[in-house]
Amino acid sequence: MIQVDGVTKTFRSGRGTVRALRDATFSVDAVQFAAVIGKSGSGKSTLLNCLGGLEPPDSGTVRCFGTSLYSLNHHERSRFQRRHIGFIFQRGNLLSYLTVAENIGFPLSLNNITGNDQTRRIDELLDRTGLLAAARALPHELSGGETQRVAVARAIAHHPKILLADEPTANLDTATGRQVVRLMQDMGQTDQCTIIMVTHDLEVVEAAAPIIYLRDGRIHDYNNGGARV
Ligand SMILES: Nc1ncnc2c1ncn2[C@@H]1O[C@H](COP(=O)(O)OP(=O)(O)OP(=O)(O)O)[C@@H](O)[C@H]1O
Ligand SMILES: [Mg+2]
Repeated sequence: MIQVDGVTKTFRSGRGTVRALRDATFSVDAVQFAAVIGKSGSGKSTLLNCLGGLEPPDSGTVRCFGTSLYSLNHHERSRFQRRHIGFIFQRGNLLSYLTVAENIGFPLSLNNITGNDQTRRIDELLDRTGLLAAARALPHELSGGETQRVAVARAIAHHPKILLADEPTANLDTATGRQVVRLMQDMGQTDQCTIIMVTHDLEVVEAAAPIIYLRDGRIHDYNNGGARV
């Protein structure tokens, strides 16, 4: 289970003080598919980054499967991220100088999964994502949809407990975007992965529980499978 309790994050920049998250509290159970929604600037990416150990909050706690992320030191947190968290960004997920297969293998290498074990897992993921023929291609040779399918494969290659996806379909047409989401859901289910995804696609949102609706950094609404709290 992922538990977020009283998370606040303020940025101070040339634009002044921005309270990106204000006292955010919610939880997502294991293997749930959660959607994070809200207008531009409402704090969605900040929330995801806090959940992924990338952005220490000013106050509050983030617990992932019993581990309080920001009680860990830097080294321990990196290790937790490497083992248990998969991230898909809106764009720029792939390393441009590595092939599709090498990109998928990257998190495996970080987790000391090498040799035949790595090759087997890469082949399995290429097959499941329909990318066998593209194994040796470089990222710039892929379409947007193919790129995001590789991003999904790479994000879940090491069987993370948590998959965080920040508008992974924003640059895709609706049909291709849905394909990518279905792939995430299928793979999440096979691997018993908890998925938290920022999206604007209403059909995807309707299939999600809980739905976390942010407004000006606050949780404006939290809908967990019909039961509003
Ligand atoms: N590193 C930063 N430095 C200063 N301000 C920041 C930083 N990151 C985010 N912000 C500000 O915090 C607020 C929330 O940003 P965030 O990126 O979380 O929004 P978002 O909901 O993901 O928006 P979008 O839908 O446009 O991606 C915004 O006002 C943004 O300008
Ligand atoms: Mg964002």
